Amino acid sequence: MAILVTGGAGYIGSHTVLALLERGDDVIVLDNLSNASRESLSRVEKLAGKSAVFCEGDILDRACLRDIFASHNITAVIHFAGLKAVGESTRKPLEYYENNVSGTVVLLEEMRSAGIYQFIFSSSATVYGANAPVPYVETTPIGGTTSPYGTSKLMVEQILQDYAKADCNFRAIALRYFNPVGAHESGEIGEDPNGIPNNLLPYIAQVAIGRLEKLGIFGDDYDTPDGTGVRDYIHVVDLAEGHLKALDHLTAIDGYKAFNLGAGKGYSVLEMVKAFEHASGRKVPYQISPRRDGDLAAFWADAALADQELNWRVTRGIDAMMRDTWNWQSKNPQGYK
Ligand code: NAD
Ligand code: WQD
Repeated sequence: MAILVTGGAGYIGSHTVLALLERGDDVIVLDNLSNASRESLSRVEKLAGKSAVFCEGDILDRACLRDIFASHNITAVIHFAGLKAVGESTRKPLEYYENNVSGTVVLLEEMRSAGIYQFIFSSSATVYGANAPVPYVETTPIGGTTSPYGTSKLMVEQILQDYAKADCNFRAIALRYFNPVGAHESGEIGEDPNGIPNNLLPYIAQVAIGRLEKLGIFGDDYDTPDGTGVRDYIHVVDLAEGHLKALDHLTAIDGYKAFNLGAGKGYSVLEMVKAFEHASGRKVPYQISPRRDGDLAAFWADAALADQELNWRVTRGIDAMMRDTWNWQSKNPQGYK
């Protein structure tokens, strides 16, 4: 029995593959390497002392999926593959809907043909849209998304819900991640963005290592304690562990269910900068820049449902997030290259 992990060479996928291998699961990874390198999996395998089967291919490629399902005894799929840059999605909406929505439909159809009905989906806090009250609770209606990226996640959640209603064999859990950061404590695997990072922590880390000159803080006049944006940062290893709990919980749910995976606590951009400086011993020069289009002032998770039902909660706080980010960045100044 094996688990198929799409997008398993990427940031969150590679940490999850490691956790699966470490607990003894057999893993097949399908990744087109559009935003990852094979090196991440080599390092995962070294850390685990065990190999995963790697298939370089695309979730939109039916022949490739059929071949994988015919060659392995797969019982469940964890689906990370997709495009994830919010800003880029506003410029390339069709690519985002094709990859994230059509790609998921193709994957689900081929799973059905192969008789595979267990599914974990990488959703995002962004599905709560611009007007949800904080903290975000799973019972809050979702929608009002502000980018094609966010809408693609919303659409897939709806598709999963409809499919689960129509076919009682199918079970899916959507995990709504808040802001994943950090790296495996070994410093061997971590986040390796292409080009200039969009997200806060990789940007801070690249300033600290000298690849970038200074951080631009997008606004200091929000209605937050210090005026900078507040987010719920979650250590990627905690997040990876949440996938294992969700996988084990699939048989206990009634068709479809969504869970927040967050810490339930927010930190501001300035708090993140200070915590990083403390952990790394490096100065992170910054300047206050204009607000970034589409940014919200503050949001964090109500993380109670995952605690109660999945028996999952974060165990790594801000110090571990910063220590592990810096450990990864300083050991791999150019990422996997
Ligand atoms: P990532 O880009 O590191 O990983 C995605 C992986 O999918 C990459 O390895 C990429 O090469 C692969 N991929 C992309 N399109 C593919 C396709 N058509 N076929 C096969 N492989 C394909 O991103 P990540 O941060 O690890 O995110 C994983 C998932 O979690 C994504 O679906 C993302 O939208 C979601 N998510 C991420 C965050 C975040 O902040 N990192 C937050 C919420 C949700
Ligand atoms: C965090 C805070 C910025 C960069 C995005 C997606 C979300 C999810 C995670 C996928 C904000 C500030 C950032 C910088 C800054 N991804 N910032 N200078 O925007 O909360 O979430 O990634 O699902 O869907 O929207 O994360 O890391 O970009 O920003 O001041 O150079 O840091 O304004 O307050 P965000 P982020």
